[in-house]
Amino acid sequence: MDLRVDYGETNAVRDLNLEVPRGEVYGLVGPNGAGKTSTFKILATLMEPTYGEVELCGIDALLHPEEVRHRLAYMPDLAPVPSDLKCGEFLEMFAAAYGLQGVEKRDRITECLEAVNLVEKRKAFCRTLSRGMMQRLVLAKSLLHKPQVMILDEPASGLDPVARSGLRKSLRKIADDGRTVIISSHILSELADMCTSVGLMKKGELVASGPVADVVSQMSRPHRQIELRIIGSTEKTEALLKKSDRVSNLIVKDQTSDLVEFDFEGNPEDQADLIRELVESGCRIRSFEERHSTIEDIFLELSEADHHHDE
Ligand SMILES: Nc1ncnc2c1ncn2[C@@H]1O[C@H](COP(=O)(O)OP(=O)(O)O)[C@@H](O)[C@H]1O
Ligand SMILES: [Mg+2]
Repeated sequence: MDLRVDYGETNAVRDLNLEVPRGEVYGLVGPNGAGKTSTFKILATLMEPTYGEVELCGIDALLHPEEVRHRLAYMPDLAPVPSDLKCGEFLEMFAAAYGLQGVEKRDRITECLEAVNLVEKRKAFCRTLSRGMMQRLVLAKSLLHKPQVMILDEPASGLDPVARSGLRKSLRKIADDGRTVIISSHILSELADMCTSVGLMKKGELVASGPVADVVSQMSRPHRQIELRIIGSTEKTEALLKKSDRVSNLIVKDQTSDLVEFDFEGNPEDQADLIRELVESGCRIRSFEERHSTIEDIFLELSEADHHHDE
């Protein structure tokens, strides 16, 4: 709760309250330097916060870091893979270190390879894998000790769309098994489609967090953007809309296309009233559409606001 991380004079994370329910794929998104890696290192018990509490699987991570470590896997942004080993051998090395033997070891390795869709690469040398496959192999390694929580720092970084889709499927499978997955990215589009919930982080602060749809509505401007298409002249419609104090930023996009855009402030009832008024005054509405902001729009807006601030 109210987590804070300082590096000397630099405040990397402040007032961070983050709660991730079990079985979620949670994405922490923010530009470089936002504090994502610092947050993850604390969750992974690799570092202690300057101030605050950390709990994983109901265990106090600051008091009992060893117990927490058994239950988690941490994958840093650049996880190295030895090139002179076969994928199966790479996993065997770690499985043995976890004390697995014989049939149990072999089965667990198969299970982990299945989770990341790499069973057919068991006998392939690690160096022959594509970047996406290598990332999934490291993921398989992280699954060997059956962690309840997986913390992956920028796992999709540098992956092409096909590799990303492979990673998404693996993460989905892992979460469906009841594990919690926490991932980060500085590119929202890289992980929005992988996550069940997201947090937006900016300059050490979590500015929004929750299910993707909630974050969108939480961060959206209070007004809606409306696109109105009519048949005939836009003049009368314009005049009517301008009279309403719920309407602002009215733009007639193109006289010939009969497209009018405006911002509308009001609840759905107000919106219905506006449509009735327009129709009753003889305006021939062809379509009336609410433009929903996407999470990408919101992220861009956040980043742009930041950009202007820096100038
Ligand atoms: N070991 C460190 N020593 C000093 N400053 C650091 C250290 N690690 C990170 N920082 C600073 O803390 C801030 C957050 O960094 P980080 O957690 O790596 O963010 P992100 O992963 O979102 O890019 C940045 O300003 C960064 O320069
Ligand atoms: Mg980072």
